[in-house]
Amino acid sequence: VVVTLEPHDHHGRTPPCTEALIAAGVGRVAISRLDPNPEVSGAGVARLRRAGIEVVTDVAPEVGTTVDPGYFHWWGTGLPRVILKTASTLDGQTAAADGTSRWITSEEARQDAHRLRSEVDAVMVGSGTVLSDDPHLDVRLPGYEGHQPRPVLVLGERRLPLGLAVLAREPIVVAPRPAGYHDEIVAPGRRGVDLKSALRALGERGVFDVLVEGGATLAGALWEAGLVSEGVTYIAAAFAGGLGRSMFDRTFSTLSDLRRIDITDVSTVGPDVRIAWRVRETDS
Ligand SMILES: NC(=O)c1ccc[n+]([C@@H]2O[C@H](COP(=O)([O-])OP(=O)(O)OC[C@H]3O[C@@H](n4cnc5c(N)ncnc54)[C@H](OP(=O)(O)O)[C@@H]3O)[C@@H](O)[C@H]2O)c1
Repeated sequence: VVVTLEPHDHHGRTPPCTEALIAAGVGRVAISRLDPNPEVSGAGVARLRRAGIEVVTDVAPEVGTTVDPGYFHWWGTGLPRVILKTASTLDGQTAAADGTSRWITSEEARQDAHRLRSEVDAVMVGSGTVLSDDPHLDVRLPGYEGHQPRPVLVLGERRLPLGLAVLAREPIVVAPRPAGYHDEIVAPGRRGVDLKSALRALGERGVFDVLVEGGATLAGALWEAGLVSEGVTYIAAAFAGGLGRSMFDRTFSTLSDLRRIDITDVSTVGPDVRIAWRVRETDS
């Protein structure tokens, strides 16, 4: 078993891991990345060794990235890993012109998307999606009792009416000015919220993996700002047969705007196709 030694206990996502490992009776710890601060990493390693635990410190960095990609993304960039989840028709429509989008994909695809939610710290949507869909943004799978992601709502000018389902789930509200919610991040930007500083503030709260579930306005703004790291796109076995809402509420002006991705996995879920992808760090 490979365990990542997380010395940053001050951000509150996990308790100090050295003590947890000692209490769990672990015999051997393999560390893939040490904190650059030798005082932190050295103290952790020494504490484990004093407790009689064998410590290996030369595991390849990629191993750590695989075990906890969001944390290492945050460590390297100061920003959470943003995963864009979209459900579209085969001709690329994510909602009809009248805003209806439930449901474009199959029950199986939606269940798979719930599993994605179970793997992240937070699920983010814009106010347009909250107002039109009234989503819960929680994991609802048969028999599931595990971790629930925190809802993150990106607001602009419009207010949310009381009684929306997600408001009962203690959301983190991101807004360009104080909006009066219990837990809010104020991040004024040129148009609505400054998404980069909002993400940085989420990272400081220990939110390292953010699953963005729409809509096209928020997705377009995150994409344009280069803040999306990877994504999962569900393509329904269906055609819209015309233009409704696309994945990104943006114009594709010229071919040089095209950004290449690496497809990391392709599978079928029920009648639909699921494509996992990652944005290329260097565009080529
Ligand atoms: N098929 C799918 O995968 C999928 C997923 C989710 C949603 N949908 C559909 O998408 C539609 C809603 O999408 P939408 O594009 O209207 O809304 P949205 O992207 O959910 O929300 C956009 C709103 O967020 C606020 N905002 C604040 N700062 C922002 C920033 N920097 N960048 C972008 N937005 C910012 C603005 O609110 P103000 O306008 O108040 O200023 C903006 O209008 C619905 O029809 C829903 O059913 C489809």
